[in-house]
Amino acid sequence: MVDLDPVQRPKFTPWVEKYRPSKVEEVSHQLEVVAALRKSIQTGQVPHLMFYGPPGTGKTSTILALSKELFGGEFFKQRVIELNASDERGIAVVREKVKKFAQRKIAKHPDSNFNCPSIQIVILDEADSMTIDAQAALRRIIEQYSSNTRFCIICNYISKIIDPLASRCVKFRFSPIARDAQIDRLKFICEKENVKVESDDVFQSLVDISAGDLRRSINTLQTASTFKQNNITKRDIESISGIVPHEFIIKVEQIISNTDGFSDVQFLTQELLWEGFDVQQVIYQILDHLMSNPKLSDLKKARLSEIIAETDVKLIQGGDEEINLLYTLSSVSRIIKVKNKHGSHQ
Ligand SMILES: Nc1ncnc2c1ncn2[C@@H]1O[C@H](COP(=O)(O)OP(=O)(O)OP(=O)(O)O)[C@@H](O)[C@H]1O
Ligand SMILES: [Mg+2]
Repeated sequence: MVDLDPVQRPKFTPWVEKYRPSKVEEVSHQLEVVAALRKSIQTGQVPHLMFYGPPGTGKTSTILALSKELFGGEFFKQRVIELNASDERGIAVVREKVKKFAQRKIAKHPDSNFNCPSIQIVILDEADSMTIDAQAALRRIIEQYSSNTRFCIICNYISKIIDPLASRCVKFRFSPIARDAQIDRLKFICEKENVKVESDDVFQSLVDISAGDLRRSINTLQTASTFKQNNITKRDIESISGIVPHEFIIKVEQIISNTDGFSDVQFLTQELLWEGFDVQQVIYQILDHLMSNPKLSDLKKARLSEIIAETDVKLIQGGDEEINLLYTLSSVSRIIKVKNKHGSHQ
């Protein structure tokens, strides 16, 4: 085997980094945010910002892109400090770091023609992991330094940020990336990386597994492409992302809707476990599938959600997979098969 020395070995670059938007205009789907920040770039006026919303929707990318545009290419590093969950974020440390940063003389832009606003930016990423005390102390810090420092607070859950802190910022909600926007981005990356997919179903499947998280769909695409540069199939995506193939879910539905005996459910449980599927994934997909069945009544759907939620908790708490899957499938089967007062199963 030829062992390439590190210089010859091709460098692995995660596509999520390679294709991180470098301009605010390149941020997909978040139209309202982009429109507001476009104004900030034009005027150089930046308020304190709060970005919140689910993972992989562009929060960190947007503030980095904004900083680059306001301050220019490499120079932005001199005007921006980024603190995230991997940093020690007790309030003493935050205060110390921010103070040091804010008290520095603002670095002058090397290009005197560049219209660079005279502010610096403190990014507090993943702020929902900060303690309430640290957040409370941050209010004062924001006021103290706001003459030349702007804060951008980023989190997944706005409810974990105390009101007085949130109210000091202009808030922007980042929503899960819509299907079309994700597919456009994924196709763009495939083109640039010369990756071929078997059909558009591959993109549909990437979007299905991502739940609006573009980081996740890009990462899955890249993982698939490390196995196969050409002709990536829907099945490849399903197998690397732990998704249960649709045919299995249909089979589960057919068996639990028609069986008369417990042994069918028992056998089905064994089969799903032998296939090596993650039980939590199996029950989420069953729930999803049944929820989109227009023939099931709302009452039945509500009962099914209860059962799945119960199992979910038990699995998280370490409950046995086999027993829980058996319990769920037999309960779901019983609910589906109950006849309504008109004598039908719906
Ligand atoms: N709106 C978007 N437009 C373009 N690319 C995006 C967008 N959202 C996510 N991405 C892609 O996903 C990667 C991760 O995005 P980012 O780090 O901005 O997510 P985030 O919202 O900060 O997530 P988290 O809450 O997990 O920190 C980016 O590097 C980029 O490749
Ligand atoms: Mg982030």
